[in-house]
Amino acid sequence: MEIINIKPKFNLQNGSFHIVVWGCQMNVYDADRIRDLMRASGYVELNEPNNADVIILITCAVRAKAEDKVFNQIKNWRHLKIIRDDTIIAFGGCVGSELAHEIVKFDPSIGVVFGPRTTHRLPSLISQYRSTGQSVVDVSADALEKFDTLPEQGLRGPSAFVTIMEGCSNKCTYCIVPHTRGQEDSRPVQDILDEVLNHIGHGVKEIHLLGQNVNSYRGLGEDGQIVRFSTLLYEVAAIPGVERIRFTTSNPMEFTDDIIKAIEDLPTIASAIHIPVQSGSDKVLADMQRNYTSDDYREIIRKLRLARPDILISTDIIVGFPTETEADFEETMRLVNDVKFDLSFSFIYSVRPGTEAALLQDPVDQNTKKQRLYILQKRLEELANEYSKGLIGSTQEVLVEGFSKKDKSELKARASNNRIVVFEGDECLIGNIVKVKINSVLGHTLKGEMI
Ligand code: 5AD
Ligand code: SF4
Repeated sequence: MEIINIKPKFNLQNGSFHIVVWGCQMNVYDADRIRDLMRASGYVELNEPNNADVIILITCAVRAKAEDKVFNQIKNWRHLKIIRDDTIIAFGGCVGSELAHEIVKFDPSIGVVFGPRTTHRLPSLISQYRSTGQSVVDVSADALEKFDTLPEQGLRGPSAFVTIMEGCSNKCTYCIVPHTRGQEDSRPVQDILDEVLNHIGHGVKEIHLLGQNVNSYRGLGEDGQIVRFSTLLYEVAAIPGVERIRFTTSNPMEFTDDIIKAIEDLPTIASAIHIPVQSGSDKVLADMQRNYTSDDYREIIRKLRLARPDILISTDIIVGFPTETEADFEETMRLVNDVKFDLSFSFIYSVRPGTEAALLQDPVDQNTKKQRLYILQKRLEELANEYSKGLIGSTQEVLVEGFSKKDKSELKARASNNRIVVFEGDECLIGNIVKVKINSVLGHTLKGEMI
């Protein structure tokens, strides 16, 4: 049989790309939108880096470790000849905007450097590099231009992220995010609702609203009035087909009563809230410029639990901030024991260039920091295990996401309280919310049966 090589009428084959994402959910959202954009621009996505024409790296700058990881990754790919000499590397995310021209100095073979707010320009930046051979750096932060120019979103499975704001205008002294993602900008309400409607049309059941600081959302409404986060929650919940709403990250600075009332009023809001506290010491919180005390935090949690008794609270904690003494660390442990957090994240303080805290003397030695982290993580683990055990015998409404990775005969789902639940069930349940009775726990995963 003769094989005829039919050339497409349009430029579908601009080449192939592979994308690697490190960091927060905002980066995951940006990466998904880049995928849609690259496909719309005639690129084909590869699941492996081998032989890709373009490698896109979306990185996180919050701690130094993440940064090192990505540079090591590039070196390693080159060393193992996984990527070719002519593979174009496009370096983005927060590290892109943090280091910008530094990246090209460090590795001149990096073709494109972009930032969280220039993702929409990626195909044209790649074309520019292709035609000139000169590295292109574009990390400018033009308000919300990217959302107006990105193509409509593709399929996302039963749960979809929707970014409601970019940047952060707080001045936490340890944090690089305001430098990398720019000042806070909220998207207009209707843009967000349109994006939600598009997802619902594709069968999405759970909407996960994203922002560095969702509680300070102040978007423009259709009538020209500024809309607060609580109002946005009511508007999203009113869209038929939205069965569950999550949001991250909440900031204790602005966890106001209207938001707590919305959580009480709207059963579609999931029973899991992530509220980073960072420290339990009022002195350290002041040094971090967090604008709340540990008792303010306790009070928010008390009100939340009153509004929603089954709610699970998770948090982020930094240990070893330069002004943290042993007594301050004990205050953090006291808060952990008072609040009884569920699955939480904790980190050793990492000096970030350009931040206020980078100017502080740091008398706490690394071993002490490691010890504190160990003590904290051990306690957080115990608390999470206690919650897991307490959930045995309960019935959970779970959104089925797909098959369990470990055992393909089981389905993997997520409960409202954010715990992963596995159970035996038919493939046709994927994408639906079903009730599962919890019989046992495996680490932090709950195992149950459908009822
Ligand atoms: N060092 C360590 N942890 C940090 N985080 C942010 N900046 C730093 C830093 N310089 C943590 C905070 C934040 C989470 C996303 O990362 O706990 O909530
Ligand atoms: Fe960083 Fe603070 Fe903004 Fe969170 S609220 S992104 S910790 S500056």
